[in-house]
Amino acid sequence: SNDELHRRIVAAKQTLGDRVVILGHFYQRDEVVQHADYIGDSFQLANAAKARTEAEAIVFCGVHFMAETADLLSGPEQAVILPNLAAGCSMADMADIDQVEEAWEALEALYGTEPDADGRVPVIPVTYMNSSAALKGFCGRHGGIVCTSSNAETVLRWAFERGQRVLFFPDQHLGRNTAKKLGVPLEHMPMWNPNRPLGGNEATDLEQAEVILWHGFCSVHKRFTVDQIDRARAQHPGVRVIVHPECPMAVVDAADEAGSTDYIQKAIAAAPDGTTFAIGTEINMVQRLAAQYPQHTIFCLDDVICPCSTMYRIHPGYLAWVLEGLVAGEVLNRITVSDDVAVPARLSLERMLAAKP
Ligand code: 13P
Ligand code: SF4
Repeated sequence: SNDELHRRIVAAKQTLGDRVVILGHFYQRDEVVQHADYIGDSFQLANAAKARTEAEAIVFCGVHFMAETADLLSGPEQAVILPNLAAGCSMADMADIDQVEEAWEALEALYGTEPDADGRVPVIPVTYMNSSAALKGFCGRHGGIVCTSSNAETVLRWAFERGQRVLFFPDQHLGRNTAKKLGVPLEHMPMWNPNRPLGGNEATDLEQAEVILWHGFCSVHKRFTVDQIDRARAQHPGVRVIVHPECPMAVVDAADEAGSTDYIQKAIAAAPDGTTFAIGTEINMVQRLAAQYPQHTIFCLDDVICPCSTMYRIHPGYLAWVLEGLVAGEVLNRITVSDDVAVPARLSLERMLAAKP
């Protein structure tokens, strides 16, 4: 039962003490989040993994790419554990390293490799955190960088200082929404289609491209619609609509604000009592915020319950299992990134951590 699992997790944690640290993403279910030593968005959790040098194990309650990132940034002796190895991310799976390498070759053939008069190279690759370590490594090897939803603007500026254009993957929506905010016109953001020669793009589109978007998307956030926002505004005059930047552009444009999970949480925490919020992000987080801030009215834009199915795979039963493993001296479900990938991947993450707004 849930009570039983709760009891087992608390007992194992108590036995382990400082030997373990549990990190939890905002999208995790309550029965998991309540055991986390640190809860945050993906940027904050990356920093937390980097800072926790004393614990021998980091149990990451989130998805696979986050655990990989924690392994890249944590100490070499620390084991990063993903309680359920099936907790992946469908968006991260939408960009595979071979397809990206192929796109890169085609772009090099088109743009060449020589910097312009200002020293800017033809293309800088930027990968969203929600991608495999192999793609972060690719960025590291090609002068590129990682971004999260909380620093995408800063990172794109960083990239435009060093490159004439950007190849952004895997999330087309975060790429488009961020580039638009920086003033890049839509007709200068062609989308790369890896299934067609030269990406299926007209050469002229690529000729004037400033940001080349990958075709990936988040299956949770693409569900939000402008209709839902219109309905929320009609039913709740004065409602504040905040959505995640993984939502489609029309939805971000129709909302009052867009920001990372941490942005959403902080906006709610700082609002005057009695504010009504319609939120466009994962349901577990929205429901938790609604319970945490009873002084406000908080609801999800989508009334069909839409959890992130892979985040949800971290069941408390798995958490109990890996913690009890540690108590018994066994490291279960360890996530490790091999050195050939880790060295360049770390480089692209360190560039992100050092990028100044
Ligand atoms: P953030 O936590 O960075 O806002 O990202 C949301 C998300 O979809 C993680 O998968
Ligand atoms: Fe991936 Fe979307 Fe789930 Fe985030 S919410 S882990 S992007 S599927």
